[in-house]
Amino acid sequence: MTFDLQEAAKQHLWLHFTRMSAYGDGDVPVIVRGSGPYVYDDKGKRYLDGLSGLFVSMVGHGRTELAEAASKQASELAYFPLWSYAHPSAVTLAARLAELAPGDLNRVFFTTSGSEAVESAWKLAKQYFKLKGEPGRYKVISRDIAYHGTSMGALAVTGLAAIKGDFEPLPPGGVRVPNTNFYRAPDFVAHSEEEFGIWAADEIERAILREGPESVAAVFIEPVQNSGGCFPPPPGYFQRVREICDRYGVLLVSDEVICAFGRLGYYFGSERYGYVPDIITFAKGATSGYSPLGGMIVRDYLMEPFLSGHATFLHGITFAGHPVSAAVALANLEIFEREDLPGNVRANEAGFRATLEKLSDLPIVGDVRGAGYFYGIELVKDKDTKETFDDDESERLLRGFLSHALFDAGLVCRADDRGDPVIQLAPPLICTQEHFDEIERILREVLTEAWKRV
Ligand SMILES: Cc1ncc(COP(=O)(O)O)c(C=O)c1O
Repeated sequence: MTFDLQEAAKQHLWLHFTRMSAYGDGDVPVIVRGSGPYVYDDKGKRYLDGLSGLFVSMVGHGRTELAEAASKQASELAYFPLWSYAHPSAVTLAARLAELAPGDLNRVFFTTSGSEAVESAWKLAKQYFKLKGEPGRYKVISRDIAYHGTSMGALAVTGLAAIKGDFEPLPPGGVRVPNTNFYRAPDFVAHSEEEFGIWAADEIERAILREGPESVAAVFIEPVQNSGGCFPPPPGYFQRVREICDRYGVLLVSDEVICAFGRLGYYFGSERYGYVPDIITFAKGATSGYSPLGGMIVRDYLMEPFLSGHATFLHGITFAGHPVSAAVALANLEIFEREDLPGNVRANEAGFRATLEKLSDLPIVGDVRGAGYFYGIELVKDKDTKETFDDDESERLLRGFLSHALFDAGLVCRADDRGDPVIQLAPPLICTQEHFDEIERILREVLTEAWKRV
């Protein structure tokens, strides 16, 4: 008897953030291999990976050079912890990341994932302030609808009410401020992106004052917010946020789990927008997914209280900075450099934007926004009024039709309604105009059909 992959997937595998009932009758999609920006399912059908898996596969699929780096490291030293010991791959990678990171962000604490990176950054902020004689600072400010991970701490930083309620009570201290969705800016600042940005940044100051500056440890912000559909920062936003954080002694954490490693055309998103955060959190693209790795890079002064006496950062993860993952990350960065992938993104991003903007002629497309190789397309019921879909319509449109139809048409992307309904795109950094055209063609076909069903 042969092993039935479909049946076993339905019986034994628990998919993440997935309504499993949706696979009662239909097949679970099974992806078996990848090559460049394409992946293939178990029936041999090809899909353009318009989301880099999950914002991960920066160099594309099927790079044997990364598999070989993993194999070489596993043969030499498969595992040793970073608890009290170092190993060459983690040391070399930490030094390389310190070189690439902005300003004096020179110290790297590895994790295995983005949630752990966020969790680690919050824990570091808390312990740092305890050591510095400000034990009351524990709160974290983050933005509406922003996703920062699923572990309890990271979930408390996350601004998506719908995925938090079932896990309350969460660690206390999460405070929300507005995000930078200019398409939905309040009327009094809707006439100017600059003024909107200053207002949104000043909301952070108001939150700090409301909570009491002596109780606030950190502000967590993505360079371009993913959840809600790619909200780039308005001009001057980050400069203002930096000023506010400095004024009140609050740490600025740039959550770059998606935006680092070329996604926005630079090694770090903060570089693109010209600010120096106190901590950068990263994961996903660091290894292009050939092995899991995350971490945080912190400024020198945050390490300083831990460099003398008995002080120890009381935090660790068995597989953090795993030798195989660190070796893969180094090989991944070699590809970045050799092929100048950040440069490729900068050279082609205008073409990507222009190609997606062609879709603005469709009645369902309200807004096309993003930066680099990271775009969101907001879907609306009425372009003139920007009226969005209600919950039922959104359910029918996104879950009932779009997600499957886009996949069936050969495109991996994400139809998301955690904020207003959006389609999200984040193709591998090797993509060029021919891939943008393919994305546009499939989206046009499927969105035209979707409009008929509205
Ligand atoms: C900005 C941001 N932070 C944190 C996370 C959590 O990362 P992970 O899924 O690796 O735990 C994500 C995941 O998408 C993210 O986008």
